[in-house]
Parts: sequence; structure tokens; C-alpha cells
Amino acid sequence: MRTYLYILPFLLFSFFSVQGKDNFRVSFDELSGKSKKEFIDGLLSRMTIEEKIGQLNLPGYGNVEPDAKKSDIASRIRRGEVGGIFNINGVKSIRALQEVAVKESRLGIPIIIGADVCSGYKTGFPIPMGMACSFKPENVEKAARISSEEATTGGVCWTYSPMVDISRDARWGRSREGAGEDPFLGSDMAKAWVRGYQGDDLSANNTMMACVKHFALYGAAESGRDYNPVDMSRVTAMNYYLEPYKASIEAGVGSVMTSFNEFENVPATGHSWLLKDILRDAWGFKGFVVSDYTAIQEMVNHGVGDKGAVSLQAFKCGVNMDMIADFYSSSLIGLYKSGKVMEAEIDNACRRILEAKFDLGLFHNPYQYCDEERGEKVIFSEANLREARRIATESYVLLKNDGDVLPLKAAKKIAVVGPLADTKANMCGSWIDVKTNQPYGLVEELQNRYKGVEVVYSRGANLADDEKIEFNFTDNKNNVRKLQDLIIKDAEKVVEGADAIIVALGESASMSGEGASRAILELPETQLDLLRTMKATGKPIVVVLFTGRPLALQNAEPYADAILNVWMGGTDAAGAIVDVLGGAVNPTAKLTMTFPRVTGQCPIYYNHKNTGRPMAEGAWFTRYVSNYIDVVNEPLYPFGFGLSYSKYEYGEVALDKSEMNENGTVTASVKVTNVSDVDGEEIVQLYIHDKIRSITPPVKELKGYRRVALKAGESKIVQFTIDSQLLKFYNSELQFVAEPGEFEVMISGSSDNVKKAVLTLK
Ligand code: BGC
Repeated sequence: MRTYLYILPFLLFSFFSVQGKDNFRVSFDELSGKSKKEFIDGLLSRMTIEEKIGQLNLPGYGNVEPDAKKSDIASRIRRGEVGGIFNINGVKSIRALQEVAVKESRLGIPIIIGADVCSGYKTGFPIPMGMACSFKPENVEKAARISSEEATTGGVCWTYSPMVDISRDARWGRSREGAGEDPFLGSDMAKAWVRGYQGDDLSANNTMMACVKHFALYGAAESGRDYNPVDMSRVTAMNYYLEPYKASIEAGVGSVMTSFNEFENVPATGHSWLLKDILRDAWGFKGFVVSDYTAIQEMVNHGVGDKGAVSLQAFKCGVNMDMIADFYSSSLIGLYKSGKVMEAEIDNACRRILEAKFDLGLFHNPYQYCDEERGEKVIFSEANLREARRIATESYVLLKNDGDVLPLKAAKKIAVVGPLADTKANMCGSWIDVKTNQPYGLVEELQNRYKGVEVVYSRGANLADDEKIEFNFTDNKNNVRKLQDLIIKDAEKVVEGADAIIVALGESASMSGEGASRAILELPETQLDLLRTMKATGKPIVVVLFTGRPLALQNAEPYADAILNVWMGGTDAAGAIVDVLGGAVNPTAKLTMTFPRVTGQCPIYYNHKNTGRPMAEGAWFTRYVSNYIDVVNEPLYPFGFGLSYSKYEYGEVALDKSEMNENGTVTASVKVTNVSDVDGEEIVQLYIHDKIRSITPPVKELKGYRRVALKAGESKIVQFTIDSQLLKFYNSELQFVAEPGEFEVMISGSSDNVKKAVLTLK
């Protein structure tokens, strides 16, 4: 009896604790007057080690309907085993699970909800590489802003974007998710994404936390094959690959995602130079690091250890949150008990996640991102759709326009053929819901806009030669494969009497993206066959090219009079295509990734090295010089290239002085004239070549760009200010320096065909 009396108070105390009395849960009152640090210190002091480890766990659940509160994930949240969830469907489910976290877990810590909102939430924008081709960071910022506005009504407060991986190899299917091959432009785009998503106030109910990915070097996968090893010198990494990640950190990105690849024979998710020396120490990143999907678990396949060992390695490198694998949740406690991991280290990881939740305002109002009412107003609002369409028109690159076939001339009959002419599902490319919402496919849009013109359609070709590829990559499963010679004959018949033929070719949406590497970038024979047959009619041929990556068009290009590359343009891709085809919008975009002639040229990029045996420009095969015996070195369409309905002429490059010291500046200028009778906007590009330096320089590097509006016949002087910052590079000691000497300053409307002047840094 006496014993009973002794333990009674303890039992009562435990009972109320387990019931989660308010004084144990996080409450709004508790926040008032406290700094973030005080609040989180207080919270951490009440958390068990298991609860702290729970915060480091990020499972993913698609559907938890019909009753989210009864789901398996709800039980885990109740037990404090979950810090966040990603890619979960439905705002009602998200709200229900948030209620479980806040009202039914012991401490009431809200969960963070992440999703791959990568080029739009519902209103879809072009794939990020397409948007980069506008050379207009403000477009990216606007798209990110709208994505935030929309996603934050659906429960999402954390997006797995931007992807800033530099890609020089079009075989890599994820090229489409980044800005292309250039670190200077890529850095500007990276900052714009972060600004757009996060705004000025992360705690507002219409901003979300960005997560820059994939750290690091994921885009340099060997052979362009997804997840493949990456190996390069640290100097190369610093000079060509890491800058856009750094730019995101400078822009204040809240979180960083690791990458699947290895680097220097170590998985990036457990690479201490990348994750500690560079990310934390050199760049001062203060937010939290999440693994990519099962990336910690995959370290076992990489062959560097068992579950415990790889968890320890990733954790010690500062990977704070484990996506999907449940490796931290099952091994950290053992590692802690065996003394391999200290409580202070777990506190540190947990603190970063709690800080993110605090910054997002989740402790103040855990439901602020579940707002269906606001959703009804903002999702697909007229203004958002208008912006999506404008941004799409500014991402389309005109690759060829012989005889000014475009814009389309007055016609009685327009024929549209090709496997991608009538598939709405192929208009959007990236991630979650954006796919299904575009109102029209290309044929329908043309029919609607060209009233009084007969717009006819015939499919004309299968998407691929190979049945398996066709089946796996056609989004329209009912339309899989028809007999090629029957459909091509039908197309021949249908185009009779047409004034122009639009041929929609390229890739379906699922032929690029994650896990969609390609070893053949040429158009398949079935598509080429259609193109050649159409060309034989003698009518003007306009290719509308859908693609998520540069394609190798050497064998297709001769059969097209015009090629308009439209990537995957988002919700109103079709409207935007017709805007450009018809001339309502004059195309301005320029490529941000080189288009090879043939796949064998990959990897191919404009900022390459000279070699000791460089090929003379424009020369054909020369033995014992760095070239191929069967194809020229030059790509079909270089970085920075893109035509317009206007035509521009560039004058000579002039420098206001030919010498500069480390603190000085020089102004480079060029006269650009619109020599056509169409008003337009030209993207003027500045490139610099360091002629001699301590490590081999690339032949040129983008160092500036301007969009300049020029009326028909108008000339403008376009100026760039050059300071020594633009002349710097990482030397072999990884110091960022400018070395005195001569620099070629080049200005052009493309990375080829440049005009030069020479500048000396004293
Ligand atoms: C991708 C990431 C993505 C994550 C979550 C991974 O497979 O590499 O880019 O954010 O899945 O969906």
C-alpha cells in the first residue's frame, strides 16, 4: 500500500503526459515573446531521443484516402516518428495528418509537407530548361511565385526545386529540369527560383521553402546514364558545376537535397568535402539537408557499407533528414546507444528541421497552407494562365526558318501531322499535377484560332521504331502503334491541297526526365520517314519539335524549312505555340544547351577546352588534330543560338579602354541593328576568354547578357561593364582569382560567330 502511495503521483503525471496535456504540447502562447532559439531550445529540452530522431524521418505517401487519420502514416505521426511527408495527394488528407501531428502526438510538433513542384503546381510552365532559354530570370521568378501561390493552398510548404545541375550531355534525361550547360546563366536562374518560391517572408501563407537539388554534380553522370558515377577534378567542379548551388545558398535557399551519384568514388550523400567543407564551411549554409529519395539506402548498393555504416556516414556528413529509406529511424538509436553518435549531433540535426518549421510559420499556424478557399481563387486564375502562356512563348526556340516560312502565311488549308500533334498529355513535362490541365492540344488550338481555314490532321507516324519504346513512352495508351505504312499514306492524302504542313515530332513527355536517359538522340526512322514524305510534297514544312533535351537533328534538319523547338510548354503550350507560329509573338529564346549533330558528339558544350591540337574553325577532317573522321566538331545548334522573325546585325566590339587593374572596370559596347521590318527583342551575349592562365582556360565563357528591344530598322548601342570579378576562376588551390594578362571580350547573339576585342588586366 505504501509503495502504491509513493508511485501514485508518478502514475498520474505519466497519464497526463501520455494524454498529451497542453502544457506538454507546443502551444501558441509559448511562442510569444520568445526568439526562435529560445523556443527551439525549450522544445528540444522536452523531446526524447526517439522524438528527435523522428523529426529526421521523411516518408512519402501518395494516397491516404479515404480516412487519412486511420492510415499507417497517421499512426507513425502520432508516435512522433515522422518529421514530414512528401508528394502526398490532397489538401484534406494533408490537413487531417497535420491535425494528428498537432493534436495527437505527444509534443504536437507540426509536420512539414514537401512536393516536387518543379515547373508549376496546377498552372504548368515550360520545363525549366525551356524557361532558361528566355535568358530572363524574371520569368523563372514569376513562375516560381505563381507555383508558390498555388501550392501553398494545397497543403504544400516545401518544394523540391530548383534543380540546378549543370548538364553537358543531352543523353541525360534530367537535363530538362535544369537551366542547361552554363554556370553563369544557371546561377542567375537558381537565384530567381529561390526568390520566387520563398519571397521576402517565408512565414507568409503564400510562400514556400525551396530545396536546391541535387547536391552535387548529378548532371555529370558518366555516359549520360541516370544515377551513374561522376568523376572530375575539384577544380572542374568548382569552375563549371558548383556555382549554381552556391548561388542558391546566397539567395537564402532553406534546404538542400543530396544526389544519387558518387563523386571521387564516394557517394555524394556521404561526401564530406561536398557536404561539410564546401556547403557548410565555405558557403556557410545554415538550413537543413535532406537526402534524395532512398539515397542513404542506396549507399549500400554503392558498396560502402551496411545500413548502420551508411546511416552513420551520411549523418556525420550533415545529411539531416532521410527521405523514404527509414534508415535513420531504424539505425540512429543504435548508433547513439553505442556512442557513435552523440546526442548533441542529433540535437543539431533536429534543430535545423525545427528551425525550418519555425521559419515557415508552422508553429504559429500549422494549417495556414491548407486553404481550399484561397485555392479556388488562385489556381488556374486568368492572370496565372496568362503568365504561363507568355512565359511559354518566350521559351520556344526558332532553330531554322528558311525563306521566312514562319510566321504562317495566309492560307486556305493547313495540315498538321505527326505523333505529337494531338496529344495533350505531351504538352507538360515535369512532375506532379500540371500534366492534365492544359485545355487544348495543338490541332484543336489551330482549329480554334484559324477559323475560316481548313485545319486537317493525320498522325502519319508512330512515335518510335521500337514497339516497346512506343508502349512505354506514349502517354496516350489507346493510341499505341498503328501500321506505319497505313498512317503515312493517310497523311499523304490528308495534306493534299494544303498551303503549309506542320509536322509535330520529337519526344513524348515521358521520354525525358528521371530515369529516361537515351543513347540515341536522333529522331526515330518512323518520324524521319514522315518528315521526308512530307518534304517530297514540295510544300513548306514547319517542324514543331517537342523535346525535353537537345536532340541530334543532322539527319532531320534538311527536310524542314522551319524548326520551332517548343520543349514541353506547360498548361497552355498549344496556345503559346500558335501565338508564335502565327506571328502574334516574335520568338526570342536562345538555346541554353548545345544541340549536337549526332549523338556521338555528346558530351558537347560551348565552354570547352582548346586541346593542344585544336581544329581550325570550319575545317573538315584533319589527321592528328582533335576532331572526328566522320563528323565536324561543331554542333548543329550551339549554346546561345536562336532565330527570330527579326534579323540583327552586330557591329564591332569596342572597349572604352584596353587596360584595367584589379579594382577597375571597362565598358564593352557593340552596335546592334534590327535590319528587318519586324519589331523584335534580341538577347545580346557577352563572352570572355582568358588567353593565358595557370590552369587551362575554356575557349569562352558567358559573362553577361541583355535583352534589347529593337524596332524594325532601329539600332542600339549595347553595353556591358566588365570588372575583375568577371575574370575570376578557381585556380588549382581552389582560390577564386583573376590572373593578369590578356582577355578576349566577345559579343554576339550566339556563342558562335562572335566579334572580339582584347582587354588587358594589369
Ligand atoms: C528525385 C528528386 C525528387 C525526389 C522526390 C527523386 O527520385 O531525384 O529530384 O525530388 O525523388 O520525389
